[in-house]
Amino acid sequence: MDDLKSKYLGLIADASDEAAIEEVRLTALGKKGEISLAMRELGKMTPEERQVAGPALNAIKDEINSALAAKKTALSDAALDERLRGEWLDVTLPSRGRRTGSIHPISQVTEEITAILADMGFAVAEGPQIESDWYNFDALNIPGHHPARAEMDTFYTHRATGDNRPPHVLRTHTSPVQIRALEAQGAPIRIIAPGRVYRADYDQTHTPMFHQVEGLAIDKGISMANLKWTLEELMSAFFGTRVKTRFRASHFPFTEPSAEVDIQCRWDNGSVTVGEGDDWLEVLGSGMVHPKVLQNAGIDPNEWQGFAFGMGIDRMAMLKYGIPDLRAFFDSDLRWLRHYGFASLDVPTLHGGLSK
Ligand code: PHE
Repeated sequence: MDDLKSKYLGLIADASDEAAIEEVRLTALGKKGEISLAMRELGKMTPEERQVAGPALNAIKDEINSALAAKKTALSDAALDERLRGEWLDVTLPSRGRRTGSIHPISQVTEEITAILADMGFAVAEGPQIESDWYNFDALNIPGHHPARAEMDTFYTHRATGDNRPPHVLRTHTSPVQIRALEAQGAPIRIIAPGRVYRADYDQTHTPMFHQVEGLAIDKGISMANLKWTLEELMSAFFGTRVKTRFRASHFPFTEPSAEVDIQCRWDNGSVTVGEGDDWLEVLGSGMVHPKVLQNAGIDPNEWQGFAFGMGIDRMAMLKYGIPDLRAFFDSDLRWLRHYGFASLDVPTLHGGLSK
C-alpha cells in the first residue's frame, strides 16, 4: 500500500500540465484505475483483512484526491503568473504619435465668414443642392428664355423617357435659398446661406463644383448703404485689415439696382495682397432684391425691401491664404491638405480670432 501511495504521489508531483494530472487520476481512481480495482478486491477478503485494508485504501484515495486538487491549483497559478509576466506592459511609455486630420481651407473660410456675419445678426439657412427650375431660376426672375440660364452652364438631372416634367438642376448659385428662407420665415429676415453650387466649367479658376455664401437682409427701410457697410465690415474683418470696396453697376435679374463688388488689392509678380495698393479684384455680386423676387416668395414689396449678395467662398480662401490654383482644393492631396489645413480645435470666432 505504501508503494501504491508513493507511486501516485510521485506521478502527481511530476505532472506538468492539466492533461497529465487527468491521466494520473484515471490510472489511479478511474473506473479501471488501480486503486478502484484494489477496492473491488476488498469483497474477497476476510472481515479481519478488510478491516485493515479498507480504511487504508480509503486514506490513500483521499490523499491522492487532495494531491490532485493541490497540483491543479498550483499549475493554474503558475500559468497565470506566466501570463502576467508575458503580458506585462509599461503604461508609462509615451504613446505612438497619431496623425490627425485637418480642417479644409474651404470649411475654415466658410466658418470664418459665418462667424463674422452671425455677429451682425445673420442666421444660417440651407437649401437643397438638387433644386427645381422654379427656385433656381423662375422665382429669381430668370424666365425660361433668359440668357442667364445658358450663361450659367447648368447641370440638368435626367428624366425617364416619357416623363415630361421639367428636369431638376444642380443649383447654379445659392440664391434659391433666398426664396426658400423667405417662404419659411417671411420678413423681416437676415440670413446667410453657405454651400455648394455647380456649373459645367473647368479650368484653373473654375471647377464644376464650388462654394458660395448668399446673404439676404429684408426689413423696412433697408438701402444700398446698409449693403455697403455690411460688405465692408465683412471684408475688413475677414482679411484683418481695413479693405476698401468698389461698387460697379451691373445686372442680375433678381436685384435692382445691381452691383458687382471689388476689393482693393495689390499685385506683386503674380501674388496678390488684399487691403493695399490700387488694383481691384471682383469678389461678389449684390444688389437690392427685385420686387418680383419678393412677390414670388410671398412678400409684399411695397412694405418690405432689402439687399442680397452672393460671394465665392473658394476665391476668398485663395486670396486670404495665398492658394494659387483652385483645382488643388478638390484633389484631396494629403500633402496639400496638411500644408493648407487648419487645426480642428481652432474654431473661428470673433473673440478667439478667426484663424491661427
Ligand atoms: N447669384 C449670383 C451669382 O451666382 C450672385 C448674386 C447673389 C448677385 C445675390 C446678386 C445678389 O453670380
